[in-house]
Amino acid sequence: MEIQNCTALRGELLWFTGNPFLAKASDCTQHIDDGILLIQNGKIIACGAAHDIMPQIPKGVTIDHYPDGIIMPGFIDAHVHYPQMQIMGAYGKQLLDWLNDYTYRAEQAYADPEHARINAAFFCDELLKNGTTTAASFCTVHPASVEALFNAASRRNMAIIAGKIMMDRNAPEALLDTPQLAYDQCKELIKNWHGKGRNLYALTPRFAPSCSPEQLTVARALRQEFPDLYVQSHLSESPDEIDWVKQLFPEHEGYLDVYDHYELTGPRSLLGHGIHLTDAEWHSLNDRQTTLVHCPTSNLFLGSGLFDLARTQSPNNSVPVAIGTDVGAGTSLSLLVTLGEAYKVAQLRGGTLTAYQAFYLITLGAARALHLDHDIGSFEVGKTGDVVVLNPNATSLLRHRMEFTNNIEEILFILMTLGDDRVIKATYTAGQKHKIC
Ligand code: GUN
Ligand code: ZN
Repeated sequence: MEIQNCTALRGELLWFTGNPFLAKASDCTQHIDDGILLIQNGKIIACGAAHDIMPQIPKGVTIDHYPDGIIMPGFIDAHVHYPQMQIMGAYGKQLLDWLNDYTYRAEQAYADPEHARINAAFFCDELLKNGTTTAASFCTVHPASVEALFNAASRRNMAIIAGKIMMDRNAPEALLDTPQLAYDQCKELIKNWHGKGRNLYALTPRFAPSCSPEQLTVARALRQEFPDLYVQSHLSESPDEIDWVKQLFPEHEGYLDVYDHYELTGPRSLLGHGIHLTDAEWHSLNDRQTTLVHCPTSNLFLGSGLFDLARTQSPNNSVPVAIGTDVGAGTSLSLLVTLGEAYKVAQLRGGTLTAYQAFYLITLGAARALHLDHDIGSFEVGKTGDVVVLNPNATSLLRHRMEFTNNIEEILFILMTLGDDRVIKATYTAGQKHKIC
């Protein structure tokens, strides 16, 4: 075997093979105290106990040894807005005011390709610093904002789902396109980027209130023309927003019905939030297997409401689900922090979220919900070598707290309740180690 393009990581390995909401953790978790993950030309070629894998490592390959590290599949952020990094944590009421007061203003700056380039690079570096190797990100209405993100991600070998926002009403003039312009610009971006390297294109109608029926018709036409595209949008985030959709689309039964009508739901459709849903809407999501993305820090920050995560796992009515940071309404790019808040939201609803369930949701669970589990989400041989290395003793407080943990599940739980970017010791995409600074 060639030494070239070979990466070996040694430490405590942990990944999922099944869904811990449905099966006993011991039946769907792989945990190896001292393991080795071997990656060649970007793909996992072996994974197992160190003493079994050691003989397979070509001579001359240095092993990245993390004696106290927990090595897991790279994290997946299923809903984020990279152009909103500058307005994270901005004071200001609920969704619709927040959009008008901060968001639309910040997004206008992305008309400048240089601004987009600088911020896309910063965003990708911040993702890696947080152990996130894949993200589904909104861009702005400007095609250059999409090109900047795909370029930055390609340089770092990251798998990114992204698209130009489609928005032809109810926003400042400078941020509006038209149905024809949206069609032409999306088509050009799809041709240039979708499936090139690790880049995947998502039709991105911002949300129903920003799209005329003609704009949604264009989104449907593009999806029919390119059936393997993703769709990303927002659904039922706040009560005022839902009332607005009822006024704008009186002929539809409700918010989700607008997207169903324009065939923007189903597999590879990722709808952020979905907090205030009717029974009929839950059934439709289940029937069509549309993915919901739970964004707890954003929902708490904007006072949007408490997502019903438990309901997504109903045995007869399950809905694919992943976790999103939803930066800039979200207050952290760290999926560890986000899981901690997801736990608190579940608690406030009278439920719970175990550490295994939580980490499943940002690894294999997300890969499944995004239909990327053939490639990422676990350490199965043949998948791409996207990896995060966690240091449970990253701070003095964590070191102190870890002394009082008894097993890996307790350690993981503390990492999601007290951890953040300081816990990320290293991140690898397709076997390539990134410098965390
Ligand atoms: N709904 C429409 N646009 C947005 C956005 O940018 N952020 C959030 N959280 N919700 C939205
Ligand atoms: Zn969002």
